[in-house]
Amino acid sequence: MTTPDDIERMGAAAVERLRAAPDLDALTAVLAEVTGKGSDLGAVKRGMGQLDAEARKQLGQTLNRVNGDVGRAAAERRAELEAAARRVRLEAERLDLTEVRPTTGAGHLHLVTQTMEELEDVFTGLGFAVAEGPEVEDDWHNFTGLNIPAYHPARDMQDTFFVDRGEPGDVVLRTHTSPVQLRVMEQQGPPIYIVVPGRVHRNEARDATHLATFHQLEALVVDEGITFGHLAGTIEAFTAAYFGEGFTSRLRPSYFPFTEPSAEFDIRRPDGTWLELGGCGMVHPNVLRNGGIDPERYTGFAFGFGIDRLALARHGVPDLREILSVDVRFLEQF
Ligand code: PHE
Repeated sequence: MTTPDDIERMGAAAVERLRAAPDLDALTAVLAEVTGKGSDLGAVKRGMGQLDAEARKQLGQTLNRVNGDVGRAAAERRAELEAAARRVRLEAERLDLTEVRPTTGAGHLHLVTQTMEELEDVFTGLGFAVAEGPEVEDDWHNFTGLNIPAYHPARDMQDTFFVDRGEPGDVVLRTHTSPVQLRVMEQQGPPIYIVVPGRVHRNEARDATHLATFHQLEALVVDEGITFGHLAGTIEAFTAAYFGEGFTSRLRPSYFPFTEPSAEFDIRRPDGTWLELGGCGMVHPNVLRNGGIDPERYTGFAFGFGIDRLALARHGVPDLREILSVDVRFLEQF
């Protein structure tokens, strides 16, 4: 017959095995063994029904207490093992901010800056000059002068950060590099062959494919006799020069208020997949006029695309937010 002492011994043996479990998986296995159907304690529990009331009461009290001890021992061991696992993980992920890193040099330009400079090189090679414009823009250059009047639905395509200066809504953080088209037209007449790299801002929630602050490259050509063929040819020439062998481009009909006709352009990778890059089209006559250029004599094309996505796609980084990383282990890869 099982005595209370027997149950105490079974419990002590179970607690000892639980305390010796080397890891969480082993702990789970031991717990099943010492409390499950096939265990000593399980057999005692099942046998209780056959006992008379007095014996059942006596053994039952001991069994409950011992089961409690066993459960607590398992919980304690689990906490210990989890804490140990956490210590190992923290040690692996530890960042010592005072650590002196052996470096080969004084650091390097950010991936986006590198990409911007490479793009400038390619376009300079194709005969373009590099121009710049202000990040804080007026409504005229960012919208109205680009054929996007107030209340035009296209303004919603580009959620805007407004600057608290002048008349309400008059000063903005530029939502694209296209305002520099107008600025260059104003400053220099045709012929114009320029590219404009720069930072732009949109009032958007950040996610894997959107940033509130990002970079674009704009191209503008205005001259006599410029056709859509020149636009398509320039995008194709840029694709070959920047991406290299086996990359081609395509245009798809689209809409922008400042170009007519308008298109979107994609880059075809050698494996047959497409990278959607940007927008383009023939400069709208209203925009030429707003820039002080006679649309009867001159025509032009423009295109613009995001630099950040391009830079990351090239390195197989899927999440645009990595652009903002300040982790030197990420930055050093490029
Ligand atoms: N400015 C447009 C944009 O930000 C791109 C574009 C540039 C389209 C030039 C046509 C011509 O989406």
